[in-house]
Amino acid sequence: MSARAESLVSTSAGESRELGRALGRVLEAGDLVALYGDLGSGKTVLAQGISVGLGFDGYVSSPSFIVVNEYAGRVPILHIDLYRIHDTAEIEDLGYRELFFGEGVAIIEWAERAKEFLPDERLDIHISIDAPDRRTMVLYARGDRHARVKSTLLKLWRERPQDENPHD
Ligand SMILES: Nc1ncnc2c1ncn2[C@@H]1O[C@H](COP(=O)(O)OP(=O)(O)OP(=O)(O)O)[C@@H](O)[C@H]1O
Ligand SMILES: [Mg+2]
Repeated sequence: MSARAESLVSTSAGESRELGRALGRVLEAGDLVALYGDLGSGKTVLAQGISVGLGFDGYVSSPSFIVVNEYAGRVPILHIDLYRIHDTAEIEDLGYRELFFGEGVAIIEWAERAKEFLPDERLDIHISIDAPDRRTMVLYARGDRHARVKSTLLKLWRERPQDENPHD
C-alpha cells in the first residue's frame, strides 16, 4: 500500500455516517471526494454524513435516476451518482467540467465511471464490504490539499470521543 493510502474500518452505518460528518467538517470549496465500492457498500451513507458535516441539514437521497443533486451547505454541495453512466459521451453531456471542477464540494459515487475525467487533485475513498455491517475504507489523497484533508480527518477520527459513537 502506498504511503499516501490509509485504511480504516467501520462497523456500522452510523459509524460510517459519523466518519463522513468528520470529513465534511474538514472539506473546503473546490474539494472533491471520489467514492468507489460495490452496491450497498455505503457510498450514499458517507455522502449523507459529509453533507451534514458541511452544514446541510436536509435529506440526502440516493440519487438513482437523478445523476446530480445540489444541496446548500456552508459551501455548495454537488452529490453525483454515476451508476447509470456507461460511456464517456454521457459524461461529456453532463457537463463534467462544471461538476468536477466547480466552486463547491463534489461527492461522486461510482467515480470509476469517470476515471479519465476526474481532477488530479481529489480524495479517493475505496470501500469494501467485509461483512454485513463491516466496511474497510482505503483513503488515498491526490495532491497536497487533499493530503491535508485526509490527515486532518484521520487525526480527528482517531482522537474522537468513543462514547459519541452511534450504534445504529
Ligand atoms: N459499516 C457500514 N457502513 C456503511 N453502511 C453500512 C454499514 N453496515 C451496514 N451498512 C448498510 O449498507 C447499506 C449501504 O447503502 P448505501 O446506499 O450507502 O450504499 P451505496 O454504496 O451508496 O450503494 P449504491 O451503489 O446502490 O449507490 C445501508 O443499508 C447501510 O445501512
Ligand atoms: Mg448510493
